[in-house]
Amino acid sequence: MFSWADEGMWIPMLLQRNEAAMQRAGMRISAKDIYDINHACLKDAVLLFGGGCTGEFVSPEGLLLTNHHCGYGQIVKHSTVEHDYLTKGFWAMNRQQELPCPGLTVVRLVRMEDVTAIILKDITNLTPENERAKLIAHHIDSLSAKAVEGTHYRAVIKPFYYGNQYFMYINEVFTDVRLVGAPPSNIGKFGGDTDNWMWPRHTGDFSMFRVYVSPEGLPASYAEENVPYKPLKHLEISLKGANEGDFTFVFGYPGTTRRYVTHDQVDLSANQENPIRIALRDIRLKHYNNAMNQSPAQRLKYASTVAGIANGWKKWQGETQGINRLHGVEQKKKQEQQFQQWAEKNHSLSDYTQVLGQMAKSYETLRPLILERTYFGEAILASDFMNRAFDLYLLSTRYSDNDSMARVQADNLIRDNASFFSDFEQHTLVDKAIFVETFVYMWRAGYAPYVSYKSEDDVVAALNQIYDKSMLTNRNKMDKVLKGYKAKQGKKLLSDPAVALFAKSYEYCYNEEKKNAYAAANCDIQRYMRTYLHGMMEQFPDSNFFPDANLTLRVAYGHVEGFQPKDAVRYEPYSTLDGIMEKENPNIYDYVVEPRLKELYLNKDYGRYANAKGELPTCFIATNHTTGGNSGSPVMNADGRLIGLNFDRCWEGTMSDLLFDPDYCRNICLDIRYCLFLIDKFAGARHLIDEMTIVE
Ligand code: ARG
Ligand code: ASP
Repeated sequence: MFSWADEGMWIPMLLQRNEAAMQRAGMRISAKDIYDINHACLKDAVLLFGGGCTGEFVSPEGLLLTNHHCGYGQIVKHSTVEHDYLTKGFWAMNRQQELPCPGLTVVRLVRMEDVTAIILKDITNLTPENERAKLIAHHIDSLSAKAVEGTHYRAVIKPFYYGNQYFMYINEVFTDVRLVGAPPSNIGKFGGDTDNWMWPRHTGDFSMFRVYVSPEGLPASYAEENVPYKPLKHLEISLKGANEGDFTFVFGYPGTTRRYVTHDQVDLSANQENPIRIALRDIRLKHYNNAMNQSPAQRLKYASTVAGIANGWKKWQGETQGINRLHGVEQKKKQEQQFQQWAEKNHSLSDYTQVLGQMAKSYETLRPLILERTYFGEAILASDFMNRAFDLYLLSTRYSDNDSMARVQADNLIRDNASFFSDFEQHTLVDKAIFVETFVYMWRAGYAPYVSYKSEDDVVAALNQIYDKSMLTNRNKMDKVLKGYKAKQGKKLLSDPAVALFAKSYEYCYNEEKKNAYAAANCDIQRYMRTYLHGMMEQFPDSNFFPDANLTLRVAYGHVEGFQPKDAVRYEPYSTLDGIMEKENPNIYDYVVEPRLKELYLNKDYGRYANAKGELPTCFIATNHTTGGNSGSPVMNADGRLIGLNFDRCWEGTMSDLLFDPDYCRNICLDIRYCLFLIDKFAGARHLIDEMTIVE
C-alpha cells in the first residue's frame, strides 16, 4: 500500500520549503501558483467563510462553494415550515432570488508577512512574562493599525509556535453574501449524525453563496444596488476525478491543533475531559432526539443544536479511542524523556532542562480546574433553563450600578421570552429532563459540593421543584419583574431558586481565586510550551516543524488513499451513488432518498459526471492533514484544479489534532462530480454550471 501521507498544515507564504516534496509527490504546479503576492494565485480564490469554515470562488461572478453544514445556520434561518429550504433544498434561479444573509462574512487574504522581529522587539529571555505580554500587545496594536492605514483592509497578527514567531495577515472582509443554493437535507446531510465522522460516506455536503460588493467594487453591507464581486481568481474544476495514489492538496482555514503538547495534556483530553463530555452529551442527545422524532416542527427547531452537540460527542469518542490505540500518552512520555536527556547533555544550564518538570507542575494545578469547568460547560450550561438563569445572574451582578445597561439587558430577556415560551409545554419537557439529568450526573461525580442533599432522590426532587418554582418558567412573573427592573434590584433576581442555584455553581468554578489560578497556570503552560518547542526545534534541526493550526490559511498535501480501519477490513478510497441506494431506508430519517435522485439513478442519467466505469462517484478519502475549519476547503489535484470539497475526517483518525497517524488519518471529501451532478441534473440549475470553468 502507498503511504506518502505527509502530516502537516503549511504556511502558504513559506511553501517554497515544501515545493520539492510536493512535486516529488506528484504536484505539477509551483508554490508560487498557490501563493504569490505579485500575481493572482489560488490563494485569492480561498476564503474564510462565516468565521469558522472555508469557501472558494468557482466563477468570475463571485459564486462560492462551501459545505452544507457550513451554510446550515443560514439555510435554517431562511427556512420556515411553509418554505422549508432545509428539508426541500433551495435554488435561486436568477440573481433576484438570491437570499441576503446579514451577519455572514467572507474573508480573503490579501497578503501575509513575517513580523516576528517587530513584535518581539525589546523582548529577551529575561523579560518578565507580564511585561512581555504588554509589549507584544502594544506592538500588535500599533503595527496592525499602521499596516492598513488608508485602505479598506483589516490586519490580524497571530502567534505561531506558541509565540516563537508572529505573522500578520492583511484581509479583505466581504459582508454582502447571499445564499444561492443548497440541496435538500437528505442529500446535503445524507446519513446525518449516524454517518458523521465515518467512512464509507455519501453526503452531498455542499451549499452555494455569492459575494456582492458596492457598484465601485468594494466590500459593503447588503444593498440592492450591490453587484456580484469579480474575484481576482476563481478555481478551475476538473472532471477527471481522483484515483487512488493521486496527489491532492487541501487549501483552507484549519482551526486548532495541539500537535506538540505533553503527555499530561493528551491524557487530560483523551482520558478525563472527553469521557465527561461524552457522558453528559449522551443525556442531552437522548432527549433531543426523542423530541425530534415527534414532529417536523420539532425536528426543525432542534436540528442545528443537535448537529452541534452530536458532532463533538462523536469526534471525542474517536479521538480517545485513537489516542489509546496508539498509546499516545506513552509515546509522548518517551519523547519527553528523550528531550530531557538531550537537554541535560547539551544544555545543562538552560531552561530546557527545567521546562518539562515545570510544565508537569502546572498541569497538577490546572487539571482539577479544567475538569470543574468541563462539568460546568457540559452540565450547567446544558439546559436553556440554566442559560437563562445565567442571563439573570449577569443582570443582577454585572449591571448593578448602571440603569441604562440593565434596561437593555432586561429588554433583551423579555424579547427572548417570546421564543422560549412559543412552544413552552413541549420544550420544557425536554429542557427540564436535560437540566435534571445532567445535574444529577455531575452531583454523583462529586462536582456539585455546593448543594447538600442526602440522596439522589432528594436531588431530583429539589431540581424539579426549582424548575417549576422559578420565574424562568413563568412568563407573566418574569416579564413583570423585568419590565420594571432597576439596576439596584439584583437581590430580587438572586432570590429566584434557579438563579440562586446557578450562582452557586458559577461561584464555585469561577470565583476569583480559581480564576486567577487557572489563568496563571495557563499562562505558565503557554510559556513552557514556547520554550519546549523552541528546544525541540534545536533537538531536531533538520525537521520542518509545522505550526499548530490557528485559523490561518494553510496547505495540507497527501494522496487519495484507502486504509485498513481494523483487522481484516480494508476501506476503498471512493464511494458512489450505488452506496446511497444501498443505504436507502424510507423509515429512517437519515437514509431517506429523494425520489428525483432515485429516478436519475435508475436511468443512470449521470451525463459527463460519471467515472470511467460508468459509476457516479460521491465522496473520496485522502491523507491530507485537516481539522475543524477545513470544512468547505477546496481539495485540489496535481494541476491545482478543484476535484472536491473537504468536509470531514474518518472516525478512526480523529485524534489527528493531537497525534497524526498516516495509517489511520484520512480526510473525507465530496467528489466535485457529485456536486456538479446535483446542481445540474438534480436541481436543474444549469445557469450556475455555465458560470464555472470546467475542464473535462
Ligand atoms: N464532522 C463534520 C465537522 O466536524 C461535519 C459536521 C456536521 N454534520 C453533522 N452531522 N453534525 O464539521
Ligand atoms: N467537519 C470539520 C469542519 O467542519 C472538519 C474536520 O473536523 O475534519 O471543519
